[in-house]
Amino acid sequence: MNTLTTSFSTHHSYSHTPSTFHTTLTPIQSLSFRTPNHNFRLLCFSSDPSHSLPVVVVGSANADIYVEIDRLPLEGETLAAKSGETLAGGKGANQATCSAKLSRPTYFIGQVGDDAYGSLVTGALRSGGVRLDSLTVVPSVPTGHAVVMLQSNGQNSIIIIGGANSSGWPSSLARQHLDLVAQAGIVLLQREIPDYVNVQVAQAARNAGVPVVLDAGGMDGPLPPQLLNFVDILSPNETELARITGMPTESFEQIAQAALKCHELGVKQVLVKLGHKGSALFVEGEKPIQQPAILAKTVVDTTGAGDTFTAAFAVALVEGKSRKECLRFAAAAACLCVQVKGASPSMPDRNSVLDLLNRQ
Ligand code: ATP
Ligand code: RIB
Repeated sequence: MNTLTTSFSTHHSYSHTPSTFHTTLTPIQSLSFRTPNHNFRLLCFSSDPSHSLPVVVVGSANADIYVEIDRLPLEGETLAAKSGETLAGGKGANQATCSAKLSRPTYFIGQVGDDAYGSLVTGALRSGGVRLDSLTVVPSVPTGHAVVMLQSNGQNSIIIIGGANSSGWPSSLARQHLDLVAQAGIVLLQREIPDYVNVQVAQAARNAGVPVVLDAGGMDGPLPPQLLNFVDILSPNETELARITGMPTESFEQIAQAALKCHELGVKQVLVKLGHKGSALFVEGEKPIQQPAILAKTVVDTTGAGDTFTAAFAVALVEGKSRKECLRFAAAAACLCVQVKGASPSMPDRNSVLDLLNRQ
């Protein structure tokens, strides 16, 4: 077992450390400490995942109100749903739950209202193992929610009501939240919270040298250029990629051209999700890497597949896996996700993902 001993002679603040400490090293571990004049960050390797660099997810939490239907209603038509159920969701909460279930220490920075939906999503995050010290309860706003119309083929149509995801954020994020971002191994963002919050987080991460993944899912307005400046990996699906670039994305060649346009917009890596057709990673100046989907026997519900994919990719990346391995790991996690109803409830645990990969 590798052991690191560090002694500091000057005054410092590090939440778990006295002036001398012993710790078991993790695959990539970061130890941050401060003296009056400096911030220090040590990166080291070991084998104990309990001390590993955290994933920090900043984003939305929703109660997903599921209605199971055979088909979407026509205009003016009333349909009876086969069933209804409310489950935890929201792109941010889904990604945080996925990361934590994949055994990575994970913090969620987000907002809920002081209501039953808030309790539902908070409970799901907590039982998934997500650290919630940075979750804010905004008393005057309802928790975000979404109506998920789930058809029998597993496909969905979703309407979101922003609630506490879109209102009540401070104009400047709290110092402790920005510090948490600066100490992350990787930061995950999506587009269900205000752009100005994402920009502040991404800038804080960039200043600290922490990679930022932006899932393009969520609101469909234009991406602010200042956000793109701070993003290391942009992860859209084909539709989002078309919207961001104004280019067609029907064929692989078109997708490659659109990814090139994203490089011109300042993003070096573009991780494109292609549903049952799989995914592809475009790194500027390199050959694209394609990953087929790992096909599921039965597709129950694709809600959250994109969140699972993005979060699992990020977890594998922060663990130091190759890009190819990251794509494969993410495809396996997403394949398990689509076989279970619900977004947050369908996030697979690490052993299930590894088992599936071993069986391929
Ligand atoms: P959402 O917004 O619904 O969460 P998305 O559009 O962002 O999803 P998709 O491209 O639908 O994301 O799916 C992400 C990944 O999930 C795919 O790259 C693929 O690996 C996996 N996936 C999606 N659909 C299936 C399927 N039917 N069977 C197996 N894997 C799937
Ligand atoms: O990506 C899936 C999520 O999108 C759902 O959980 C729903 O809440 C919407 O935010």
